[in-house]
Amino acid sequence: MQLSPALTGALALSLLLSLLLPSTTTHAHNITRILAQHPDFSTFNHYLTVTHLAAEINRRTTITVCAVDNAAMSDLLSKHLTLYTIKNVLSLHVFADYFGAKKLHQITKGSTLTATMFQATGEAPGTSGYVNITDLKGGKVGFGAVDNGGKLSSTFVKSIEEHPYNISVIQVSQILNSAEAEAPIPGPSQLNLTVLMAKQGCKSFADLLKSSGAESTFNENLDGGLTVFCPSDSILNSFMPKYKNLTAAGKVSLLLYHGVPVYQSMQTLKSNNGLMNTLATDGANKYDFTVQTSGEDVTLKTKVVTAAVTGTLVDEEPLVVYKIDKVLEPSELFKAAAAAPAPKETAQATAPGPDAPADAAADQTASDSGRGRFSGMLVMVVLSLWMGVGLI
Ligand SMILES: *[C@@H]1O[C@H](CO)[C@@H](O)[C@H](O)[C@H]1NC(C)=O
Ligand SMILES: *[C@@H]1O[C@H](CO)[C@@H](O)[C@H](O)[C@H]1NC(C)=O
Ligand SMILES: *[C@@H]1O[C@H](CO)[C@@H](O)[C@H](O)[C@H]1NC(C)=O
Ligand SMILES: *[C@@H]1O[C@H](CO)[C@@H](O)[C@H](O)[C@H]1NC(C)=O
Ligand SMILES: *[C@@H]1O[C@H](CO)[C@@H](O)[C@H](O)[C@H]1NC(C)=O
Repeated sequence: MQLSPALTGALALSLLLSLLLPSTTTHAHNITRILAQHPDFSTFNHYLTVTHLAAEINRRTTITVCAVDNAAMSDLLSKHLTLYTIKNVLSLHVFADYFGAKKLHQITKGSTLTATMFQATGEAPGTSGYVNITDLKGGKVGFGAVDNGGKLSSTFVKSIEEHPYNISVIQVSQILNSAEAEAPIPGPSQLNLTVLMAKQGCKSFADLLKSSGAESTFNENLDGGLTVFCPSDSILNSFMPKYKNLTAAGKVSLLLYHGVPVYQSMQTLKSNNGLMNTLATDGANKYDFTVQTSGEDVTLKTKVVTAAVTGTLVDEEPLVVYKIDKVLEPSELFKAAAAAPAPKETAQATAPGPDAPADAAADQTASDSGRGRFSGMLVMVVLSLWMGVGLI
């Protein structure tokens, strides 16, 4: 009997926890996960992540995200804006109010101005962080940045997902034109990549980045996440005759080939085996290489050479710099060593390509982890049911 107040308290507390914990984890929205179900928006989704806007969207409630499809994102990317500027443009597409499809078609007085996350950054001068939403003839809804001279450059396409009144994700036809959002802005210059690399034994590579002009592309990607594979000074020095043989554009492409526009920790590098695009990737010019892990060793394979990752020079998210033991030679610039007539004893090795089984294995792992997550959720549901039943 003496125990009963404490016991009651403990019961109440665990009941409270069992009620509260699942609700906070299941109801918090995750824009990355919402958009991941719609491949048409993969580019938009990617840029929400690399600009860190996704995290800001997830923190807020009563919000509307105007997504555009991959074709509309291509139009934006073809303007070659820096990542900081892209962040401003995309933040103009996040409204600080909830607009589901129904509310959009029933705007009071047919027209309204709504504040956006661009307005909240404090970087939008005057009223340029506001978007005009207007109900148009024929059931259309038009959107236009206030600094777009009264032109409604985009229209409502469809609702993607609505959680009233937390988050509404809608598709709009085009990126909203806004000279203010697209105005170039200097990025925060806290990290100086070339100075950092020179200090860590990659001076020759850093010098080439500066002399070739490739440095700016690396710097533009710093804030959104960047992985650099740096050949050590002695390796690069012995490669110089080949480097000097390249055209100016070839030199830049070779250097950009050593950067990946995503932060890849050693752990993700080891688990993300497969093709990896680089800063030099440009449509048909693939400039990709294959990451392969064997035990603790990570190798990067181009069609010409295989380099090993031999150390980590800098690892401060969003930047990581690894040291590698060969210059990565892309097949776009260098010929693979002419295939010598295969000696008899290795002839069998050419039968099945090694790529197909590896890909199949990767797919298998992916679906396995999907199943793992699902059964994990099941266990949680069963556990909380069991707790609830036990307590009541
Ligand atoms: C949101 O979902 C993505 C993809 O499922 C996941 O990688 C990320 O960790 C999630 N973010 C949060 C804050 O839960
Ligand atoms: C929105 O733009 C339209 C078209 O330019 C204009 O007629 C309307 O007055 C604007 N709405 C507001 C609230 O400013
Ligand atoms: C909206 O967010 C609140 C607070 O995070 C949560 O309690 C509620 O369940 C959410 N509603 C929906 C529909 O997601
Ligand atoms: C990095 O530092 C070097 C040397 O001080 C300087 O020339 C270069 O402009 C700096 N780069 C950036 C992006 O600040
Ligand atoms: C430079 O290019 C020429 C012509 O393509 C080639 O014959 C030569 O071997 C190359 N030199 C080096 C060092 O790669």
